[in-house]
Amino acid sequence: MHIESLALKNYRNYEELSIGFENKVNVILGENAQGKTNVMESIYVLAMAKSHRTSNDKDLIRWDQDYAKIEGRVQKQHSSLPLQLVISKKGKKAKLNHIEQQKLSQYVGNMNVVMFAPEDLNLVKGSPQIRRRFIDMEIGQISPIYLHDMSQYQKILQQRNHFLKMMQLKKQTDETMLEILTEQFIQMAVKIVRKRFEFLHMLENWAKPIHQGISRGLETLQISYKPSVEVLEDQDLSKMIASFEEKFSKVKSREMDRGTTLFGPHRDDLLFFVNDRDVQTFGSQGQQRTTALSVKLAEIELIYSEMGEYPILLLDDVLSELDDYRQSHLLNTIQGKVQTFVTTTSVDGIDHQTLKEAATYEVAAGVIKKVH
Ligand SMILES: Nc1ncnc2c1ncn2[C@@H]1O[C@H](COP(=O)(O)OP(=O)(O)OP(=O)(O)O)[C@@H](O)[C@H]1O
Ligand SMILES: [Mg+2]
Repeated sequence: MHIESLALKNYRNYEELSIGFENKVNVILGENAQGKTNVMESIYVLAMAKSHRTSNDKDLIRWDQDYAKIEGRVQKQHSSLPLQLVISKKGKKAKLNHIEQQKLSQYVGNMNVVMFAPEDLNLVKGSPQIRRRFIDMEIGQISPIYLHDMSQYQKILQQRNHFLKMMQLKKQTDETMLEILTEQFIQMAVKIVRKRFEFLHMLENWAKPIHQGISRGLETLQISYKPSVEVLEDQDLSKMIASFEEKFSKVKSREMDRGTTLFGPHRDDLLFFVNDRDVQTFGSQGQQRTTALSVKLAEIELIYSEMGEYPILLLDDVLSELDDYRQSHLLNTIQGKVQTFVTTTSVDGIDHQTLKEAATYEVAAGVIKKVH
């Protein structure tokens, strides 16, 4: 799929923008702080209804304005789809084909994107929270059911936490009620855990050969889920539920003491291993970077295999950070099949045929002009 046109109103430093893109590599050139990342982010937000760099939607609205609007037209193999997202202080409204969607989980996934930005190194180096966010966003792109389950999970988690807080404060003593909440919590938790296992398994299958290629056959990548409740990927559902029940009965008094839910998908993590060693702890900077790149390239293939269309690739400020070999590897992979946006302050030093043939745009102070 590719995005044909984009229109912004009061989005970050863009007062008004209306622009067409080409179904190949689009290079966005500009000095620092002119709006390169902002335009990439707006494409990402149009697809995901969430930013990759802030969880506060209000940040996206141009200062002193009441709302921001992103509109785009996405061309797929068999259809052309107009999308619209309006972000106001009251919340978000999304339209597909000019029809307002009641649920964002129905909206997300109609346009697929993969973003690769410098902060993606945190996927390997950063906190578990960053990795959980990554899994959730990526599964959400290919599975509306997961997004729905995730919001149900958040609801029951909040209820259970609230109840435990009351118990901690001795304002509540009803243990039967806690058991009911725990049972409901477990039902949702196992759904999430199973889907995450399944997703990471697919991701690993795609990422392994890619990582082998980038490391010139020297490194083997493994990705594994690290659940906070000891369950196994191939366990059947009833066994998994039993493991959760056992865990929660063991930690009941501790949870009442602490006033919060101590285990579950909101506490899980994932691990990357290169040649059997944890990359987060033992990996060099280069290995960590290769891992992040392999994961992103794997996502492109995973989305293609699940959705039947390649996603749109957004490379914000990363091309110049990669060495020549990784750069060519990346550009060769996408060549001709993935609409790609590349931002950079200068194309010097990026010597690849793909970029020579790219459409080029210049951005200055929130205004974009096509150069060639
Ligand atoms: N909500 C907002 N309203 C208005 N301006 C904003 C808002 N949020 C960010 N900006 C401004 O947008 C400008 C451009 O930011 P952006 O991150 O797109 O720069 P960039 O071109 O990617 O620069 P760099 O090369 O340093 O990455 C910044 O000066 C920033 O202060
Ligand atoms: Mg930037």
